[in-house]
Amino acid sequence: MSKQGVLISFEGVDGSGKSTQARMLYDYFKKHNYDVLFIREPGGTQVSEAIRAILLDNAHAKMSARAELLLFLAARAELVDEVIVPALKQGRIVITDRFSDSTLAYQVDGRKLPRRVVTETNSFAAARVKPNLTFIVDLEIAKAHSRLTEKKDRMESSTREFHKRVRRGFLKIAKAEPRRVKVVDGKKAPDAIFQEILAVSQAFLTRRKLGPQKRSKWICRDNFALLADALTGVRRRFAMHQ
Ligand SMILES: Nc1ncnc2c1ncn2[C@@H]1O[C@H](COP(=O)(O)OP(=O)(O)O)[C@@H](O)[C@H]1O
Ligand SMILES: [Mg+2]
Repeated sequence: MSKQGVLISFEGVDGSGKSTQARMLYDYFKKHNYDVLFIREPGGTQVSEAIRAILLDNAHAKMSARAELLLFLAARAELVDEVIVPALKQGRIVITDRFSDSTLAYQVDGRKLPRRVVTETNSFAAARVKPNLTFIVDLEIAKAHSRLTEKKDRMESSTREFHKRVRRGFLKIAKAEPRRVKVVDGKKAPDAIFQEILAVSQAFLTRRKLGPQKRSKWICRDNFALLADALTGVRRRFAMHQ
């Protein structure tokens, strides 16, 4: 049976730098020939992208917290079934920009929905898929929001108090699950944060015996061309000595 893949999630408040780091890790793995897939939440399938548009639209400022929870979970259920589970079955590394920890931090700590209900429905929506490794990029809200340059979406437009509770929610998760969840300091420069994330990720993948693909750079079209040239040269030289 082929090896099960791994799910690596990036979490944190808006503007903390999680998309930057998730993308850097994806680019690094891609460059080094790992079988890696990048996704972001909510989104990643046709249905999930349609739900994303509803969730982030400022015209829906008055959406109820329960409706918001269920929409996030519906988007995740689709993504899990259509993209994540098949990729994990193929032994791939899946990097996701947000996953179920966001639901706990935003809908429980932020929106104050009952933890028991959110925890239960959260794991139901994810079909019990859990990230194997999670990075929380932590940053104080004022600084994080000062980095947001584009017009704020519906979630980003929530009050500063709300976002402070969300930040505390993420830190609570990290405290409860220190083996899975690593907190990195979002104040540092992107490269410095990335070096920490890379070291932890590489150690984790080594433990899981997941490495670059066997289909090495060798078997690429360029190298076939080089090999063909070399053989032609050898044949020519051989013919000259006949
Ligand atoms: N470590 C960092 N230091 C300073 N600016 C950063 C850092 N990481 C990201 N940024 C910048 O801050 C903004 C928000 O980063 P982004 O990765 O999109 O955050 P998030 O995905 O958490 O909302 C972007 O303009 C990005 O270039
Ligand atoms: Mg982002």
